[in-house]
Order: sequence, then structure tokens, then C-alpha cells
Amino acid sequence: MRAWPIRDGVYWVGAMDWDRRLFDALIPLPDGTSYNSYLVRGSDKTALIDAVDPPFAGLLFSRLDDLKLKRLDYLIANHAEQDHSGAIPQVLERFPEARVVTTSKGKGLLLDHLHLREERIQTVADGETLSLGNRTLEFIHAPWVHWPETMLTYLREEKVLFPCDLFGSHLATNDLLVINESQVAAAAKRYYAEIMMPFRTHIQRHLEKLKGYEISLIAPSHGPLYPRPALILDLYRDWAAGEPLNLVVLPYVSMHGSTLRMVDHLVEALQARGAGVIQFNLAEADLGKLAMALVDAATIVLAAPQVLSGAHPKAIYAAALVNVLRPKAKSAAIIGSYGWGGKMVEQLTGLLSNLKVELLPPVLARGLPGAETFQALDRLAEAIVERHASLRPART
Ligand code: FEO
Repeated sequence: MRAWPIRDGVYWVGAMDWDRRLFDALIPLPDGTSYNSYLVRGSDKTALIDAVDPPFAGLLFSRLDDLKLKRLDYLIANHAEQDHSGAIPQVLERFPEARVVTTSKGKGLLLDHLHLREERIQTVADGETLSLGNRTLEFIHAPWVHWPETMLTYLREEKVLFPCDLFGSHLATNDLLVINESQVAAAAKRYYAEIMMPFRTHIQRHLEKLKGYEISLIAPSHGPLYPRPALILDLYRDWAAGEPLNLVVLPYVSMHGSTLRMVDHLVEALQARGAGVIQFNLAEADLGKLAMALVDAATIVLAAPQVLSGAHPKAIYAAALVNVLRPKAKSAAIIGSYGWGGKMVEQLTGLLSNLKVELLPPVLARGLPGAETFQALDRLAEAIVERHASLRPART
């Protein structure tokens, strides 16, 4: 297999994983992914930036063979998660002189997860540089994109940023560089929603820090590389720091149609008042699409029937997922139906404790909803659009 040149002395030596459909046994990957690994050849030393998922180590080595690589001095581990670090033991075995370069937290995680020998690891401080001769690597500590140890690597002479998970997309493609910007933007949004959104405030800080760097190419460790860095930097600024849109996201589940009637009424009432709405039937929804909608939503309405004394389990799962993803929504509400009582509202709102939202009055119907319930839903729609008055429209 060939090594793909991306700059003078810099090569992509990673792997496309066209068939992967699930990450962390949780995140759907409809378009596969890639594990991007890069070789940087300086006049004196050579460095590999991030490795690959362990089953792809042979592919990585075949690309290094294409470069007739006999000696590797450094393996830069920007991130200790196994899709990038898992092949490190095999790389160290093949190149016994190579040292792993990482943050001090990265060292701890690599020791824990891979049982590397401590003497093979050297740690770098924020802003520290490593000379490869005519090439210089600068390490930018950037915790929580995606684990607490993460760093970015900047190749000064070529102005290439290697941010590992940050700015990535789960997208297997024939195009190593971004050609179809709208396709990659959609994949990057799904990736941001599923993986990066919980770390919005950290990302805002990292984006500020990156303003001090001239960047000609962003080369993440998943998905295509950005020859026009502004594409992904602008998107991240909007997703992480921009105001939400005039959009209500409405995950719902209904067993016998009562909750569905409430959902239908509320959706109509919101649309009639100018709000955008995306509803997701939790019985069959693509949770990746739900996560993507949450990137922009100003309000989340969770709709469910009660099952015995609590919310429908699919609504409990959705609430837990929303809570983990920490979207920037500003308000939330619970609606639904019940047969004889229960604690659904307390249960679901308790599960949303990470969200910084105003909880709007819930609307509950005993059995089939009637006129009184529909009036309450109209009032809820009024309250929502009032709070959305200054927001940009959503294109749904
Ligand atoms: Fe691509 Fe957090 O690993």
C-alpha cells in the first residue's frame, strides 16, 4: 500500500474503515470512518503522528514500507483512545528505538490501557517543541477533545495542524482532502454532535488559542483533511459558541396514540407560530440524527407515556443521552400521557440535570388528550416561541 504525500516530507499512512458501523458500542457510523496516521520526515529525525486501530496495523506498516522507513524516532500520541493508540505496542516492537511523545496525562492513560514500558514514553509540556532537523513539531495541550489528556500537534514549517479527534468526521471516502464541502460538513456535524458537543466550553477555549496559529491544512485523525481550514473552524465556532436556532427538537414515544396526539398538536402549534420543529420517534429514530438536531436546538420537548409508575424506558434512554451530550438548548419541557399516575416528570427532569435549561411547565394528559390538554399545549407553544423571538431561523 502506498503512503500518500500531503506536504513535502509529510505523508498520510492511515487506514480507511469502510465497514465500521458502531463506535464505542454506542455511536452509529453510517459512513464508516478512517484512522489517519501521518509520517513526518525531517532532515535528522522521523515522527509518526498517531497510530491506527489495532486491526489496521498491517496496513500502516505496508504504507511505511512504501516509504522504505527503516528508523522511527518518535511516535506522537495526541490521544490515548485505542482507535489511535491501540497499534502503538506493535509500532514500538517494530521500531525499538522509537519513543512515544505525549502529555503527562497521556502517559498515565497509555500505561493503564496499553501497559507500555515507561522508559519508552517522554512527556511534553504545553507549547514545547521537538526538532526533527528541518521540521519542528509544536505541542498544544488541548484537554477534553476528547479525553482529559488530549493535545494537538502543529508542524511549524508547513503550518499543518494535527488535532487528532478534534475537527474530525466519521467518513470513509476516496478523497483524502475535502472536495465535497457540504458532504464533509454534514459528517463533521454528526461527529461533533456525538463526540465533541459535551466539551463545548473546552472547544471554545481551544478555538481562541488556535487564533494565534497560521494554519494552511488541518489534518485530523478521522475523515478528510481540510485544505481550507476556515470551513471547519467556522462551523465549530457556530456549533460550540453560537446562539441556538429557532428550533424545537421533540423526541417522543407513544404506545397507544395518546402521546402522539399531543405531539401532533404541539408540532402544529409551534409551526403555526413560526418555530422550526424536528420530531424523532424514539421507537426507530437514528440517534445520530437526534444528536445532530440537538446541536442547533433552542428547546427540547421530551414526550412519553408513563409505563407503570415511570416514563417509557425509551424516553429514559433519550433523556440520559441528551444529558450526556449537554446541548446548548435554553429551555425544555416534558409532555405525555398516563393511565393512573406516576412520577414521569420528576424522573425525566432529574435525568436532565447537566442541562442549563429553563424547565417550562409540563403538560400531562390522563388517558386520551382532550380540549383542556390541547389548550395547555398551545400555551406551551406560546411560551416557547416567546423565548425564541430573537433567534435565527432553522432550515429543517
Ligand atoms: Fe478517535 Fe477519542 O478517539
